[in-house]
Amino acid sequence: MPTMPRARKLWANSNLAALIIWFISALTFWILFQMLLRSSAPPSTGSSISYEERRTRLYDKLSRELDEKGAAFLKYGETSQSLSLSDLFTIKDGAVTPVLKAANPPVRANVLYMSPQYSVPIAEAVKSILSPYFEKAIWFQNSSLYHFSMFHASHHISGVPATEAEIEAEVNAIKAVAEGLCPLRISLDRVVLTSTGVLLGCWQVNSGVDPVVLRDRLRTALPHAPQKQLYDAAILHTTLARLLGQPKLPKENRITGLQFFHDLVNKLNSQLHGIQAQVSELWYVEEYDVLALALNGRMKVHKLNLGCSKA
Ligand SMILES: *[C@@H]1O[C@H](CO)[C@@H](O)[C@H](O)[C@H]1NC(C)=O
Repeated sequence: MPTMPRARKLWANSNLAALIIWFISALTFWILFQMLLRSSAPPSTGSSISYEERRTRLYDKLSRELDEKGAAFLKYGETSQSLSLSDLFTIKDGAVTPVLKAANPPVRANVLYMSPQYSVPIAEAVKSILSPYFEKAIWFQNSSLYHFSMFHASHHISGVPATEAEIEAEVNAIKAVAEGLCPLRISLDRVVLTSTGVLLGCWQVNSGVDPVVLRDRLRTALPHAPQKQLYDAAILHTTLARLLGQPKLPKENRITGLQFFHDLVNKLNSQLHGIQAQVSELWYVEEYDVLALALNGRMKVHKLNLGCSKA
C-alpha cells in the first residue's frame, strides 16, 4: 500500500514539529521565568547595588563637596551689617527675612512630612549648636515644616501649568499612591554641610517604602510632571538650616580654612547620628512662592496618610 509510508512520514514530520514547538515553548517559558526572577529579586542581590548603598555613596559625595568646592556661602554679597547673605534673604529691622518670589506657575511638590514629635528635638539640637556662632547669618528651617522633597508635578525650572480640576485629579492620584504605601521608619545617617551653606540631614530607611520606589510611583501617577526632577531618586534628606555668612568668633581664633565647619558638623553628628523617626504623611503642596516650604512662604497643603492598605 503506497499510503502507508506517506502516513508514517507525515507522522514523523508532525512529531518533529511537535518537538520543535515544545522546545520553543520551553525556551520562551525559561526566558520569561528568568526575567521574572530578576525583576522580583531584592535589589541588594544581583549586579546592581542596593538603594541603601546608593544613598551611602551619595551622602559620601555630598560630604566631600565642602572640601572640593569650598564654602561658597562665605562669599555671598556683603551687606552694610558686614553680613553675607544669599539672594534668598535680606535684613529687615535687624532680623533675617526671606525674600519671597512668586512662583509662576505655582510649584507643585510632593514631600514626605516629618511630624514635630521628631523634628522639634532635632531643630532644638541644631539651634543650640549653631546659634552661638551665627547670630544673624543663619536661617533655621521651621520645625513645623520639616520635609523630604520627593517629586515635583511642576517646579521652578520647568513649570507645568495646571487648572484647578487638573490639580484635583493630581491630588486624587497621589492619594491613591499614599494609601497603598506603608509608613517609613528611618534613621539619621549623617548631617552634611554643602558648599552653598545648606545644612542637610541625610537619612537611611529601616523599613517601609524606599524613596526610589515612591518616586517611581509618583512619576507614574503624574504623567505630565517634568522629566528632569531636582534630586537623585535615592536621596532622603531634610534641610535643617542655611548658613548665610561668617561665624562670629573671637579675633584670636579667626577661621582659617574649613576646619571650623567640619568641627561644627562633627558636633552635630555626635548628637544626631542614629536618631530615629517615623514618617506617615505624604504632602502634596502647592507653593505660591519659590521655596515656600523652606522660607515660610504662601502655600496650600494637601495632607495624605500613608495608609498601608493592600490596594
Ligand atoms: C512655621 O510654620 C507654621 C506652620 O506653617 C506656621 O504656623 C508658623 O508661623 C511658622 N513659623 C515661622 C517662624 O514662620
